[in-house]
Amino acid sequence: MTDQAILPAGYGQAVIPADAAPAPPSALFIFGGGGDLTKRLLMPSLYNLAHEGVLDSDFSIVGVDHIERSEEDYRAFLTASVQDLAAAGHEIKEPIWNWLAERIGYVAGDFEDPQTYERIRQRLAERMASKGDANAVFYFAVAPRFFGPIATRLGAAGLMQEGENAFRRIVVEKPFGNDIASARALNAHLLSVGTERQIYRIDHFLGKETVQNVMAFRFGNGIFEPIWNRDHVEHVQITAAETVGVEKRGRFYDATGALRDMVPNHMFQLLAMTAMEPPNSFDADAVRTEKAKVIEAVRRIRKSDAPSYVVRGQYRAGTVVGNHVSDYRREPDVAPNSQTETYVAMKCFVDNWRWNGVPFYIRTGKSLAVRRTEIAIHFKRAPGVLFRDRPDCALAPNVLVINVQPDEGISLRFAAKVPGRRVRLSEVDMDFRYADYFKAAPSTGYETLIYDCLSGDPTLFQRADNIEAGWAAVDPILQASADGLLDIHGYVAGTSGPVMAEVLLAQDGFQWLPLEQGHIA
Ligand code: BG6
Repeated sequence: MTDQAILPAGYGQAVIPADAAPAPPSALFIFGGGGDLTKRLLMPSLYNLAHEGVLDSDFSIVGVDHIERSEEDYRAFLTASVQDLAAAGHEIKEPIWNWLAERIGYVAGDFEDPQTYERIRQRLAERMASKGDANAVFYFAVAPRFFGPIATRLGAAGLMQEGENAFRRIVVEKPFGNDIASARALNAHLLSVGTERQIYRIDHFLGKETVQNVMAFRFGNGIFEPIWNRDHVEHVQITAAETVGVEKRGRFYDATGALRDMVPNHMFQLLAMTAMEPPNSFDADAVRTEKAKVIEAVRRIRKSDAPSYVVRGQYRAGTVVGNHVSDYRREPDVAPNSQTETYVAMKCFVDNWRWNGVPFYIRTGKSLAVRRTEIAIHFKRAPGVLFRDRPDCALAPNVLVINVQPDEGISLRFAAKVPGRRVRLSEVDMDFRYADYFKAAPSTGYETLIYDCLSGDPTLFQRADNIEAGWAAVDPILQASADGLLDIHGYVAGTSGPVMAEVLLAQDGFQWLPLEQGHIA
């Protein structure tokens, strides 16, 4: 036994400060309580929250799923899966797991059967009688086709109606729609059963500590904001490189692709954090309004212009961190002639006063050389007059890199004189690494989001307008893809992606920061 929290492989730093107050008591109903998301992320996160001591003693979890089984069997099933997940060196602290397990219940039932909701209603009535509250969070950890039907049934059963000591909230997972029309329809549907304040749309990137830190970094320091604009920034690069391929998600992924999977949600969240104006306060709507404004300002390109803005790639067989990876088209559940992109690079413009004319380049892909998510701000070069006749003194731009994961930190690259009598310049990096300064408990990234939802703080969740703006910005690109206007370029697994992605920047006189080399080394 150790007293460490559970950290599934590949996850980052903790997010809930140990001194946070427990969230108000409530029952968390997990639709899809027997599913993968519950086992892989929600239960470890809930364990970590219990470990932090931020769950109320009257907190309870109720799995909702179609399999008939006793509550005891459900608890045993979750105990086994949490134990499976405990990564090497991270074991479950028994008293904490027992504390949580005692609070786990189960409702068997079909998501479309009104009886299921009657059982939930009874649970909440019992809860009100025994604990004095009927607060409930309904977590949709299910396939997207169930989002609408579950919401309908919750509404029809009167379960979204709030009352004294009875808040009612819905948590909706990604993917939230697969284009602008379906996202709008889903929003309209959810908003017909509840109010915006009751709906928590998850983008798990917002649970990442370093993503939240972008705001602290920008607005908690005096020196960056004055230069954070078109007068000083030449361009911005936002990268989310993954080493994993499609894993066992071929069916989902082949119908989705990198653009839908990552851009209107995660990548635009990073873009919004980078480009937003300072909000008037940390009030949820103040922050979300500023973010929505950025995403709404992302230039809507014409479908016919998409080839000058977007590069799509698909991985071919190769080697990723020493392991053989097969051709994407040979992955399970992927069509042998698939035209789905596993990589996308694009140029965006944020058409507002601050950013007019500054390109934001985004790239994300699977089976790449390294796993790294970063935001790199490239500043304009200093005037070269002093150094123009000195061949060893080519001036490079200053680059500020926010490393979101896995090596969380911030680096600044600048020029320094190489020691010696001759004037020679070299680029050097000043590095700040989180791990050197803060001792944070490990986390899955979901802890903050669950805690915030239980506490009624929607700041880190996507508002309806935010989601729709993201889809609206990528809509012409999706249409261009569907119409065959965007070629698919092969790239060898384990590299930085297709050569055409380099060309996208080279046309503008820029270069991606190398992936293989590590951040601005
Ligand atoms: C998910 C995507 O939303 O985010 C996955 O569906 C992707 O395809 C994942 O791998 C990346 O998240 P993280 O936290 O591992 O960077």
